[in-house]
Parts: sequence; C-alpha cells; structure tokens
Amino acid sequence: MQIATDRRVVSDIDPFSESFRADPYSHYAQLRALGPLVWLEKYGIWVVQHHAQVKTVLTDWKRFSNAGGGGLTNYFKEKNWRKPSIILEVDPPEHERTRRVLMRLFTPGALQKMREEFTQVAQSMVASAIAQGQVDGVSDLVQPFPMKVFPDAVGMPPLDRDIMLVYGGMVFGAFGPRTPWYDQLLSRADEVSAWIDAHCERSALTDDGLGAAIYAAADGGEITHEEAKLLVRSFLSAGVDTTIDSIGLCLRALAEHPEQWAALREDPSLARAAFEEATRYDSSSQSLFRTTTEDFEFEGRCWASTKRCWC
Ligand code: HEM
Repeated sequence: MQIATDRRVVSDIDPFSESFRADPYSHYAQLRALGPLVWLEKYGIWVVQHHAQVKTVLTDWKRFSNAGGGGLTNYFKEKNWRKPSIILEVDPPEHERTRRVLMRLFTPGALQKMREEFTQVAQSMVASAIAQGQVDGVSDLVQPFPMKVFPDAVGMPPLDRDIMLVYGGMVFGAFGPRTPWYDQLLSRADEVSAWIDAHCERSALTDDGLGAAIYAAADGGEITHEEAKLLVRSFLSAGVDTTIDSIGLCLRALAEHPEQWAALREDPSLARAAFEEATRYDSSSQSLFRTTTEDFEFEGRCWASTKRCWC
C-alpha cells in the first residue's frame, strides 16, 4: 500500500491475477484493511469493499451507473464486443421498463411448472449418475443441468447447446481485462454471436416458453421485437454460467467440509439452505462494476466522472 500525492489509498493488488483468483478471500481482507475506498493502480479503478459503502454504491444508480457496463470496459468511452444487456447494463427508467416484462413472467403458475420440469430433469440425471456408479460432479451433473433446464424453459428446441458455454465465457470474461485466454474466446465472437442471435429469434422458439411470453409483451407494445430478442438473450447468459458455477462451488465446499456433507446426507431437507448458504460462502459472482456519472466527493475523496468502481 502507498499514499499517492493526492492522498488516495493506492494498491497494486490485481483482482484478475491468477494468485488473486486462487485465493480471493485473503486479498479481500488486505483490501478491506486499507480502508473503505482504495484506488487500484493497475486498472485505474476504485474499489469499495465495506458493507456501508457497497450498499451506497449499489443503491445510488444516479451517481453509480450500470449503463457504463458490468465489467472493466467502460461503455461510456469504449464499445463492447456485443450489444449491452437491456436489463442489466442500463439505468432507470429504461431498466424498470424491461424489468417489468421479465418480472411478469414469473407467476406462481409459471414457477410451479418450472419447478416440476426442473425436478424431473434433476431426478433423471441423478438416476443415471447412480446407475453409472462413479461420476464427475461438475461435467456429468452440474454443467448439463442448467444447460438443459434454462434453455428448455425459454423454449429452445433440443439441440447441441455447448456453444452457449463459449458465449458465457465471452460475456463474463468481458468483465475482466484482455488476456490471451479471452482473446482466444473472442476469436469465435462472430460465429457465437450469430448462433445466439439466430436461436433467440421468435421463429426459433416454441410457442409455450418464457421466450414466447417475452415476444407477446412486444406484440402488446411494451417493448420492441428487437428488445424482446435481447431479453431472451439475457436469460441464456445470466442464468446458465452463474448456476453452473454456484452449484459447482457448493459441491466443492461440501467436499472440503465432510462434516457438512454428512449432515446433509443425514437430512436431505437441508439441501435448499445448504445451497443458499454456499452461494454466500463462496459466491460465483464476486464483483460488480459501476461507473460514476459526475464529479463528487465520496469517503473524503473527489471522484471524477466516468471512473470505474468495483465492489
Ligand atoms: C446462483 C445463480 C445466480 C447468481 C449468483 C446470480 C448473480 C447475479 C448478480 C450478482 C446480479 C447483479 C449484477 C449487477 O448488479 O451488476 C444478477 C443480475 C441478474 N440476474 Fe442473476 N444470478 C444467478 C442466477 C440467475 C438466473 C437463473 C437468472 C435467469 C434465469 C438470472 C438473471 C439475472 C438478471 C435478468 C439480472 C439483471 C437484473 C436487474 O438488473 O434487474 N440470474 N445476477
């Protein structure tokens, strides 16, 4: 740590480095110990790690905007590789308009239908795993499950969906800096974007899924048909990787804490609480970005507009 001439607390910690990713929690502790507001020199972004400040940042969209993008790329200044999400990478009132359409899809009836379908798929996957005798938790169960249930719920016909994992890598990889790994993924951007685009078209979807309901909102004039396609796209990106990673991290936590695994086996009704606790214990989504929209003072420091903020 050092104090810059303008008295910012500066750190050379790199949250995208391999050492950070291998052990994020000790690095978070180091950053928190530096104070409520730290300047990350390598990327030119502020970090906010304490609860009170994180709450302020995440609830004050007028000063801490989502429209600048969910990751390091600042959409106010740079173009992203894909069109921004119209539900996540947008501020009110636009955000409220698109969110209303999605919220209305989740009626008790729709959720019950999803619950039944998801349960059936989970039971059949577990039955084949048991019959197999030995499985790899992540590749045999954790990954195939969201890859089947979410696109099915959206109304995507059964087809080879593996390309969605490449798309997920691009979407979430875009939150970080350019690396050889990311550039290699991006070399398939045209092919992957074309696939996603084609499979989010109304004509590519069944007429009884969540996708059809989104297009019905477009027929009613709440959103345009082009926006409907982008909202369908959001389901395919937001729900898949996050769920794969969350269930995978939950399994890992249980493997590392055999006494918790034993308690769960003893009483399987704990499964829901165990999963929810696992998402807090080792979250698949550990950082969010916002972009400041004006010059102002925060925690005794002056913030210039369009500076990135990570919490
Ligand atoms: C355990 C799994 C999941 C995790 C950890 C997760 C995490 C997150 C986080 C952290 C955000 C906020 C991002 C930000 O404010 O910058 C978010 C937003 C969102 N997620 Fe998830 N998510 C999960 C599952 C899902 C699923 C299954 C879906 C859809 C089927 C979904 C759809 C969305 C949408 C649409 C938003 C934007 C909401 C808004 O801006 O109002 N997520 N998610």
